[in-house]
Amino acid sequence: MMKKIILLLILISISSIFAQPDEYDEKISELLDKMTLDEKIGQLVQIVGVERFSEQRIKEGKVGSILIGTRGADEVNRIQRIAVEESRLGIPLIFANDVIHGYRTIFPVPLAEASSWNPELIQLASEIAAFEAASEGTHWTYAPMVDICRDPRWGRIVEGSGEDPFLGSIIAAARVKGFQGSNLKNKNTVAACAKHYVAYGSAEGGRDYNSVDISERTLREIYLPPFYSAVKSGTASIMSSFNDLNGIPASANYFTLTEILREEWKWNGVVISDYNSIGELVNHRFAADKKEAALKGLTAGVDIDMAGDTIDGDVYSPHLKNLVEEGLIDEQTINNSAKNVLRLKYKLGLFDNPYVDKEFFDQNQLSKNYKDSIALKLAEESIVLLKNEKNILPLDKGIKSIALIGPFVTDSVNIMGSWSAAGRPAEVITILDGIKNFVTDRIKINYSFGCNFDDDDTSGFSEAESAALQSDVVIIFVGEPRSMSGEAASRTSLDLPGVQLDLIKRIHQTGKPLVVVLMNGRPLTINWIYENVSSVIEAWYLGSQTGKAIANTLFGKNNPSGKLTITFPRSAGQIPIYYYQKSTGRPATDAKYTSKYLDSPNTPLFPFGYGKSYTTFSYGNIKISKALISINDSVEVSIDITNTGKFAGDEVVQLYIQDETASITLPVKLLKGFKKIKLNLGEKKEISFKITPDMLSFLDIEMKKVVEPGKFKVMIGGNSEDVISISFEVTE
Ligand code: GLC
Repeated sequence: MMKKIILLLILISISSIFAQPDEYDEKISELLDKMTLDEKIGQLVQIVGVERFSEQRIKEGKVGSILIGTRGADEVNRIQRIAVEESRLGIPLIFANDVIHGYRTIFPVPLAEASSWNPELIQLASEIAAFEAASEGTHWTYAPMVDICRDPRWGRIVEGSGEDPFLGSIIAAARVKGFQGSNLKNKNTVAACAKHYVAYGSAEGGRDYNSVDISERTLREIYLPPFYSAVKSGTASIMSSFNDLNGIPASANYFTLTEILREEWKWNGVVISDYNSIGELVNHRFAADKKEAALKGLTAGVDIDMAGDTIDGDVYSPHLKNLVEEGLIDEQTINNSAKNVLRLKYKLGLFDNPYVDKEFFDQNQLSKNYKDSIALKLAEESIVLLKNEKNILPLDKGIKSIALIGPFVTDSVNIMGSWSAAGRPAEVITILDGIKNFVTDRIKINYSFGCNFDDDDTSGFSEAESAALQSDVVIIFVGEPRSMSGEAASRTSLDLPGVQLDLIKRIHQTGKPLVVVLMNGRPLTINWIYENVSSVIEAWYLGSQTGKAIANTLFGKNNPSGKLTITFPRSAGQIPIYYYQKSTGRPATDAKYTSKYLDSPNTPLFPFGYGKSYTTFSYGNIKISKALISINDSVEVSIDITNTGKFAGDEVVQLYIQDETASITLPVKLLKGFKKIKLNLGEKKEISFKITPDMLSFLDIEMKKVVEPGKFKVMIGGNSEDVISISFEVTE
């Protein structure tokens, strides 16, 4: 049996010799011919952290890259000098880092950025992050995280763009282009790494690292598109994920890593494992030992083993040579992966310029004002207004005092979110400072801590209550500490942790005008708040400019325009809940025997695409250019949007399409387009969308992309629920 498996693996590994021709192929081949087997394997090894950093191993050419973190340019240059000047062939190292939403200037977390529906701005933020990271020695960032997720119990939902593959694909492209620029040789760029490949966001139960078992259709329609978008945008690398996928761990999955990535998509970038995810094949009980794990990881298509930060985390370095010498792995397989790594080093220009050119960065600094302005704008556009009954917001200029209550008011750490790289709390504008700077001495601020994020101490409630009673308006800032968001931070409950809701209820009893601002990394079940509090804002973790963005929003300098990119459930019991659900054979009605719950409506608390403004927009006069088109035709739909309120504002006009009847049961709607527009008071604009055959296509029973004749419904609105529809028909 083992022999059969080995034969299959050898055949597989040989079949993977199809890297796309590349401008560096000749140089790579010349270099490869000089390299020993140890040196080739060295290129496939990434060590993590300083503990594992071993100058001797670098001198011997047994390390290809280092996850260096934020140790800075001098340390990077010092280590690089060992590789370039003291190893036999002088092959430079790649230095990697997790620059997820900013390096020193911290931008809103990705789930917040996505709520801006502003890919151009997101791209600018990634450009700034790349510049700052590259100036400190980072060549390669492990971003963008492009995992689609429909389960807010999963802590890493904060790192992605939400539940929709169309929007997720657009944002993936924006971030890859922002990080990589037009040429990776440009010193102010970094190599991107789309992660975590693939379907990591579908972990069963929302429990991090848990199994994923989904249909190929779901894989291809939901989880692969953002990776495909990253590949088409030129991502230099992809990171394989921890989860097993349909019985095969993603870090040893030949179907996804080679058949799809290399054969279908013709991609010749670098695949790096996640942190020791190859070694974890043993925990999956998919490999008997680290040696078999190495065999399975490499032959499936993982080029680099991101070894753990302990010597026994290594899998490729101690085992690949033996596997080759025992004839279990063909040396050509090693060569193919080494080529991918060397190609990235050539693309990065490291053979010509291995060291951080500090003079270049000194002479080409991005001004702090510019960086802060982009961070502020993105933070403002990430804010989602969930409710504003009685129009308490924006705050009346006439108020004399304001109570600021809650554990986030003076916080400068949690608001940076879960991956804050070189972000410094001292450089973050806190909520208290942001509001103080805005109101100066015009308005008295009564601050009270109120309670902690997540314990049962209510001793601060009385002081908070008295601060409220002394004030014209009360704003409470609550949510999740960043330790409850991100990796290894799954929750079974989406409720506000600790006694924060009790604090809100206590302050609500004062009868003062009340605003609740949420700062969190996932949808929260805030039913009581939504039903009882006049104004509610979703502010996520906004990064360096948090305090200024929130002040500008509360006082109307910024009119919130954010739109949720993830459904907010009423309860965790509704999960998975997302806007593109299917009709089922018994769509929910008042009748008993239909698809619904006894104890909750099917509808979410807030639907995908939802977000209010201080003004109001009306939609009308929807028109279509043709009611009947042939299968390869396009059609144009237009609609008028009018600003009917009292403030100028931005609106994200969203286009959804339903294929009314098809050979596959399809979602009730899918996002197929959006436009973010600015409307002044009373202004009306006609917005049009061109609907192409590609927008009507889906994968048929044989996984082929098809457009089928029949009726289609076009829905346009300011969120996925409140839409205006018009239909057309496609004929053969
Ligand atoms: C972590 C994460 C991954 C990150 C890597 C390196 O476990 O899964 O997103 O890039 O390890 O820090």
